[in-house]
Amino acid sequence: MTEANDSFSPPSLTTLCIDHLKRKLVLGDDAVVAILPDIYELPSHLIDDLISRLPPIGLYNFQLHLPFQDLTKEDCLHDDSTNNKRKRSRDWNLNTAWRKKFELRWPNLINQIQPTDWQKVYWESHVQKCLDEATEKALVTSFKGRIGDIQVSDGTLSYIGFVGLTIQSYRKYSKLSYHCLQFGSHVSCLRLQNILCDTETTRLLKECKLENLVLRCIRSKEQVDGLCKLITQHRRTLTSLEFIHCTVYIDFINAILDSVVSKGVEKHGIKHLSIVSSSFGQCTFAIPSGLESFVSSARSLCSLKLFDSHLGRNFAKALFMTLLDVSSSISVLDLSENEIAGCFSHLNRRLSSGSHLSVGIGKSLQLLRVLNLRGNSLRKEDAESLGYALAYMPNLEDLDISDNPIEDEGIRHLIPHFAGTSGTCCRVTSLKLEACDLSHDGVNRLLDSFSPLNAPLKSLCIAENYLGSKVAGALGRFLSTSIEVLDVAGIDLRSAGFQELQSTLIITEKLKLVKINISKNRGGIETAQFLSKLLLQAPQLVDVNAANNSMPIESLPIISSALKLAQGKVQHLDLTGHKWDYKPEHASLLTEFVHNGKPVLILPLLLATAAPYDHDP
Ligand SMILES: *[C@@H]1O[C@H](CO)[C@@H](O)[C@H](O)[C@H]1NC(C)=O
Ligand SMILES: *[C@@H]1O[C@H](CO)[C@@H](O)[C@H](O)[C@H]1NC(C)=O
Repeated sequence: MTEANDSFSPPSLTTLCIDHLKRKLVLGDDAVVAILPDIYELPSHLIDDLISRLPPIGLYNFQLHLPFQDLTKEDCLHDDSTNNKRKRSRDWNLNTAWRKKFELRWPNLINQIQPTDWQKVYWESHVQKCLDEATEKALVTSFKGRIGDIQVSDGTLSYIGFVGLTIQSYRKYSKLSYHCLQFGSHVSCLRLQNILCDTETTRLLKECKLENLVLRCIRSKEQVDGLCKLITQHRRTLTSLEFIHCTVYIDFINAILDSVVSKGVEKHGIKHLSIVSSSFGQCTFAIPSGLESFVSSARSLCSLKLFDSHLGRNFAKALFMTLLDVSSSISVLDLSENEIAGCFSHLNRRLSSGSHLSVGIGKSLQLLRVLNLRGNSLRKEDAESLGYALAYMPNLEDLDISDNPIEDEGIRHLIPHFAGTSGTCCRVTSLKLEACDLSHDGVNRLLDSFSPLNAPLKSLCIAENYLGSKVAGALGRFLSTSIEVLDVAGIDLRSAGFQELQSTLIITEKLKLVKINISKNRGGIETAQFLSKLLLQAPQLVDVNAANNSMPIESLPIISSALKLAQGKVQHLDLTGHKWDYKPEHASLLTEFVHNGKPVLILPLLLATAAPYDHDP
């Protein structure tokens, strides 16, 4: 904490008083709580001074006793004095104070989140940190006692303002249980390791209003029993459950289901269920008992993610049958990395027999928006079946079939759907076909099927397919559709490809491109020539990855003068992966193009060491 007496003059009386108050507030001292109403009436410059100097625990106590909590409902109240206080507490801007506390402790996270309530995230992150520390201690020392008695580290204590505590206070405030119970009411998202899934945790977390739970390494029945108690306790608020590295034994999901369903109510409120990098043990030959009921008894299950869990074909088959039978509302389905090849032919048999028998069949697939099938060893036959099944997913927007060797023949079965020529309506706006063993032949057909008029496609990835320069013509034409995000990394365009791309760009035309990845294409200086044209024609372009393109250093002036000329929105242009010998005049490039204080050009490392670094202004 920074103290006020950083000059040599003695501290003023005010400073002494504020410091005294600060110490009292940290300990939540009864006497100071009693005079808080008077403190709240202090002139605002004093209050501001106090707030800025309070550590988190002090600020917590200061705010805890405010007679007015709810700032949003101020219009409903007409009592003048309350209104006055209300206004003042807004002037104090406690939320900003909490944001500062958060930034001080987690500077790397501050830009990644935009919560409305910074105090909530502060304590949520703090409780998570305490639980993580306790987990580590319990795991390392094969701990036997009560989890709640595990001591929080001195570092963590001092972050919130507990420094120089008496032995008595230390005993009280260093326990994990104190932190869980005191700040639990701010906690709605938690990650828990198996060791924390026991009955005691239910007591520790009783103040929390858990909505999202992430659980790791749950392997035994005992742990599931402990977890179920916790889930039961929070079933009114829980909406998301994620299991990572768990062993889903026979009755696992049944047990979880029993704990989320309230007595006398048939439906549960879980919206997101993920089972990731886990093992389904012996149930791989079919869908595990419980999952079907879980899906069918959800009030509104929106996303089901079961990736990297060795599901296998029969599991996937059974899962799709379940989705068809129960009228679920799933809109996000992730089955990536699961070896489910072969499951779609079965689905199609079912769809084709059902579509003319009963109208309800296929209903649940109609809401599907996102389907991830990456890394499933899908082959051309699977692509054919998938092409057929896509007709039953009219709302699909995002499809990922990367890392599946479907080859040109596979893509040919899908083209009619994307091009809207299959008689079905297609809304796919994002398509990923990375590493699908495609050649220029298949990809040219795909690209040419999107005309500037019919194509709703906004994002396409065809990276890591061996396409060569023969794809350049179609790619150039494709650029003038509504495409915004294009990933063509590692398709071996070479100089010839980039040259042809340049010639297809029509100078007067403005492209909608926002993000492009042309890395790993051995384009040489032609990469830079292409970029210099592209920068001028794509006024919305923000992010360019041109790394690893065997570019000579002569590319650098070409690109920088285009950047200057275009005056576009580019924030990030990656040119790493080149061996460049910089000249002194290159040093200015880092400072010439800057966005939000960060350099736009990401250059190969040498520059930083080669350029003389001047510390003195
Ligand atoms: C292309 O570049 C973007 C970043 O600009 C990155 O997120 C993406 O993974 C890259 N694609 C490949 C195939 O490496
Ligand atoms: C460039 O290639 C190197 C080596 O293969 C790789 O580590 C790096 O991630 C690549 N850079 C980009 C931006 O793809």
